[in-house]
Amino acid sequence: MKNRVAIFLVFIIGALSFFQCENQKDGNIEVRFNQQEKEEYLAKGKDIAARTLAVLSGQLQKALGEGDINNAIASCNIRALSLTDSLSNAYNADIRRTSLNIRNPMNSPSCIEAEQLKTYQKQFNKGEDLQPHVEFIDDHNIAFYAPIVINEFCLNCHGSPGDDIGSEEYKIINQYYPDDQATGYREGDLRGMWSIRFLRSD
Ligand code: HEC
Repeated sequence: MKNRVAIFLVFIIGALSFFQCENQKDGNIEVRFNQQEKEEYLAKGKDIAARTLAVLSGQLQKALGEGDINNAIASCNIRALSLTDSLSNAYNADIRRTSLNIRNPMNSPSCIEAEQLKTYQKQFNKGEDLQPHVEFIDDHNIAFYAPIVINEFCLNCHGSPGDDIGSEEYKIINQYYPDDQATGYREGDLRGMWSIRFLRSD
């Protein structure tokens, strides 16, 4: 009996969060935009994601190259968010990285982002090709999403603790992020996604 109540509650909570998420989107919005506009935002999003990644990776690689993972993690901790903030200002867009398994609680997905992350994860599990995606949230907000995949370099901080990540290094990560969920990845795994929000100019 208890089990049934629990299953029922899980179902109700799931259904409520689904509708809550859907409420945040305007169902007819696609009709009011044209394909050209969609493609413009897609190109813009890809460009911003590539540039932000280049700056972030450059900084990380430099810090790791200096041989100090402690420094690399500290610099990542302090700079990643302020960097995405300053790039956000430069591009007049809100640039975020998010994931279903987060390290930094500040990167937790919103309801709409979690839906997209789950879609990417399902596609990934089926071996499908993951594509950037543009979505119109309402008359003023356009969301761009693109998958983030793990490469060999990322394993230094997102691989298996004690194997890819040294025990000492893992301790440091845990000092900054006691609730870290972002380890155990392998090369080619889906790590998360870019989430860029544009304010429509009209
Ligand atoms: C030197 C360690 C280090 C390396 C190498 C590293 N990361 Fe991270 N990563 C972090 C830290 C620390 C955070 C949390 C701080 C932040 O918000 O960036 C983080 C956060 C993230 C996030 C944001 C979501 C979350 O969990 O908070 C993504 C996505 C991410 N990393 C992907 C990658 C990818 C992909 C690579 C390889 C290209 C990579 N990282 C390489 C340390 C690292």
